[in-house]
Amino acid sequence: MSKKVLVTRIIPGIAEDMLKQAGFDVTVWQGDRAMTKDELTQYARQANILLSLGSNKLDRSFFETCKHLEIVSQFAVGFDNIDVAAATDYKIPVCNTPDVLSEATADVAFALMINVSRKMFYHHKLIQKGEWKQFEPLKNLGFELTGKTLGIFGLGRIGSIMAQRCKGAYGMKVIYHNRTRNPKAETELGAQYVDFNTLLRDSDILSVHSALTDETKGLFNKQAFAKMKTTAVFINTSRGAVHNEADLIEALQNGTIWGAGLDVTNPEPMQATNPLLEMSSVAVLPHIGSATVEARTGMARLAAENIISYYQTGKPVTIVNPTVLIP
Ligand code: DGY
Repeated sequence: MSKKVLVTRIIPGIAEDMLKQAGFDVTVWQGDRAMTKDELTQYARQANILLSLGSNKLDRSFFETCKHLEIVSQFAVGFDNIDVAAATDYKIPVCNTPDVLSEATADVAFALMINVSRKMFYHHKLIQKGEWKQFEPLKNLGFELTGKTLGIFGLGRIGSIMAQRCKGAYGMKVIYHNRTRNPKAETELGAQYVDFNTLLRDSDILSVHSALTDETKGLFNKQAFAKMKTTAVFINTSRGAVHNEADLIEALQNGTIWGAGLDVTNPEPMQATNPLLEMSSVAVLPHIGSATVEARTGMARLAAENIISYYQTGKPVTIVNPTVLIP
């Protein structure tokens, strides 16, 4: 009998096509919202395989109820919504979709940096409000990026592309802080490893590309912002919970830092009344890092490939908890 795959949201059709062609029985949840926990559990009980999204909370209680699942293939590079330790306890492989969205996400970080440095979102809003009256020699000036220092927190695939863009376009010096050093980026980009305090102290643009973990949760808080330059811009395209939003608002209001560009917020969606949206040197986007046709198609393809490859060869293409494959 065919294995049953539950896809928890409508995603690019290539995933369903590939899975069906490989002999899987595919059910795609048709709602235009994330499934509730009850809906997810109810549907997952009938499936062998889950193709999940970041909006599905797969915690320990979920895996206790659905320990029959044979593999979870996530349509995202991030997997902070999944209790991987619990999945591992039940020997369930968890897969994600790295690489295919790196260019798209780095583009958003790069675009936010330029937008914030020239207050572009703010100026656009001024025109919409009918407030473009005349040439202003001294008002709302931005700053130039040439020769500035880019600090990357989490120099992996996406961070490296962001660094490449900044070096190529503006000759920026690249410093970074990671759990483990990245020798490839050090050789190819001349990226210099620094401790966390130096990263805070020396970055003109500080761009966050790390995963959300217990160690990174709330790391960019009042104390961290206080160590940054008053002229610095904070960019976050990873997960909103890596920064403390109330502390960020305060740091911007007090002039502790100069600006911020966010593709991720905490919570998501951000309320329309959030004070960040009124600040001249802030740009906020609704978590669109991977929102290109190319990236989303690549994510769907890789999510399907992980499942197909697991059943055909015993090994998914990109697995997060490889220890489950050890017999
Ligand atoms: C990811 O892939 O992790 C993006 O944030 C989209 O969820």
